Amino acid sequence: MTHEIAVIPGDGIGQEVTPAAVEVLESLEIDFEFHEADAGDRVKEITGEALPEETYELAASADATLFGAAGETAADVILPLREAVDSFVNIRPAKAYPGIDAVRPETDLVFLRENTEGVYAGHEDRLSEDVATLTRVVTQSASRDLGEFACEYVEDGDHDGFTIAHKANVMRETDGVFRDTIESVADEQGVDTDEVLMDAFATKVCLDPEQFDVVVCPNLAGDVLSDLAAGLVGGLGLLPSANIGPERGLFEPVHGTAPDIAGEGVANPAATIISAAMLLEYLGHDEEAAAVQNAVETTLENGPRTPDLGGEASTEDVTTAIIDNL
Ligand code: NAI
Ligand code: MG
Repeated sequence: MTHEIAVIPGDGIGQEVTPAAVEVLESLEIDFEFHEADAGDRVKEITGEALPEETYELAASADATLFGAAGETAADVILPLREAVDSFVNIRPAKAYPGIDAVRPETDLVFLRENTEGVYAGHEDRLSEDVATLTRVVTQSASRDLGEFACEYVEDGDHDGFTIAHKANVMRETDGVFRDTIESVADEQGVDTDEVLMDAFATKVCLDPEQFDVVVCPNLAGDVLSDLAAGLVGGLGLLPSANIGPERGLFEPVHGTAPDIAGEGVANPAATIISAAMLLEYLGHDEEAAAVQNAVETTLENGPRTPDLGGEASTEDVTTAIIDNL
């Protein structure tokens, strides 16, 4: 069976790291058909639209999408793309690798972030010169989808339950629905959960990340707390993510376009290549996914490394080394 893959490199280093990940996928003995499409600042300058209709349609019909990054238009690109794949959860692993200078080398966490609502639901208003408002939307149905996914995720991955991060002591209705719904799904499924207030989590994870494993978060909290965890493991160049929907997925590094190094050919491709490993796992190629993950880890440990990790290698050198290690 051929997998139809949409490839959307976007702007800046997206143009460098996305082809690197495609090169890794092409080196495997799996039937892929890649369809490249434009999105982001560059295409907006030319056409007036950051996300052309055909790019949206491609992501909405492909089996999986590999996305790089978009610049100032990121929100105009990534939010509709997540909607195109009907994604209700964003998986963000934050893992420290041997040989990488990490603040907390013992960190090995996975964030399961709600991906459709909360304060990112888009209900913002400017009522007057003085007053701006935002409506926070939390539904039982989206919380239930996330809870069911989290239960499946911990059972498939042999994790001992999961932690729900929330702020239901203050946002009683919205985070109340979030916590209670997810807890009751876990109860039904016989999965253990505990809970932590998200502000306390920020401190606890810095002091002792090993007390956490799988962390289920509302949308904004998942965005912020996973970036915090990126700091613990050695930087944004290493963090992959997967946006999962019922029938398709979109895979992207957590980082942006890195304008400070774009065009120099030295971007770290690891985050995007690990995102490609998550794509492989999503498509059912578990063995190849593990092989790619291992090849990245071996390369991170032994080098060559890009300048963000203290090395002098180019994106291409690192990509070639990863393929050699496969
Ligand atoms: P950024 O992630 O692009 O860069 C932050 C820092 O990390 C920079 O010093 C950069 O050089 C470094 N960095 C990031 N990825 C790297 C990699 N793979 N290898 C080596 N170094 C890497 O975040 P920033 O600077 O806040 O945003 C730049 C642009 O990216 C903005 O226009 C922003 O809107 C956009 N952005 C897009 C995202 C997306 O498309 N999903 C996510 C975050 C930002
Ligand atoms: Mg973010």
